Amino acid sequence: MASASEAPATTRVPRHLAIVMDGNGRWAQRRLLPRTVGHREGQKSLRATVEFCLRRGIGSLTLFAFSSENWKRPEGEVGALMQLFLKALDREVDELHANGVRISFIGDLSAFSTELRERMQQAMARTAGNRALHANVAVNYGGRWDIAQAARRAAEAAVAGTLDPATIDEASLSPFFSLHDQPPVDLFLRTGGELRISNFLLWQVAYAELVFIDTLWPDVDAEVLDAALREFARRERRYGMTSEQVAAAG
Ligand code: FPP
Repeated sequence: MASASEAPATTRVPRHLAIVMDGNGRWAQRRLLPRTVGHREGQKSLRATVEFCLRRGIGSLTLFAFSSENWKRPEGEVGALMQLFLKALDREVDELHANGVRISFIGDLSAFSTELRERMQQAMARTAGNRALHANVAVNYGGRWDIAQAARRAAEAAVAGTLDPATIDEASLSPFFSLHDQPPVDLFLRTGGELRISNFLLWQVAYAELVFIDTLWPDVDAEVLDAALREFARRERRYGMTSEQVAAAG
């Protein structure tokens, strides 16, 4: 018999979970350690989260690893994060690939070193055929950047004659956004106690359930994630309809 912790958390599981992994710095500072130790510790939660999604049958996971605003952090912290990304790519890709995880990076990759960019491209190409879980890592990403790049590419398509500007609507614009090839974000989770979206996915969270928890990212484990899934299952998603209409639609 499955133990309580292994039992399914809920009957309604999000198809796409997006996470703002906040609280690494505070986790370290509370222990009088450098902030970078918190980022290193945060990798353990990242690993646990990927395993959790595989176990719970969550098809898409999108993680905010580095925002377009994070460049403003002290040079040492930015450098340490870049080293962490490089090492993680070296160390984790084999195992992720063996577990059927497809890795994608979303964001403006042009700002990264050639070395880092090449490794990201290699990881994406190598895992492109995997189907167990699609893990998207948002790096140098901003929700407004995503809207701007979608608008730019749509304008380019219009100039090229493949898109009629008069017919542009939500459906025809959607394919230009990051994550368009995956189910909509069902659950947006932010750890670390702040109640903000912080320029993460903007277009994509239109109908997501937003869950904010105080737990700092390095303290996140399967139990914490199960609690978030229970909260998600408890919510009534009405998509603009009334409760009665939702009930009638089954
Ligand atoms: C936010 O915490 C976290 C980040 C800016 C970086 C997230 C990075 C990781 C979890 C490390 C590994 C990632 C990969 C993809 C290998 P914060 O520093 O803003 O925390 P604070 O709010 O307590 O200061």
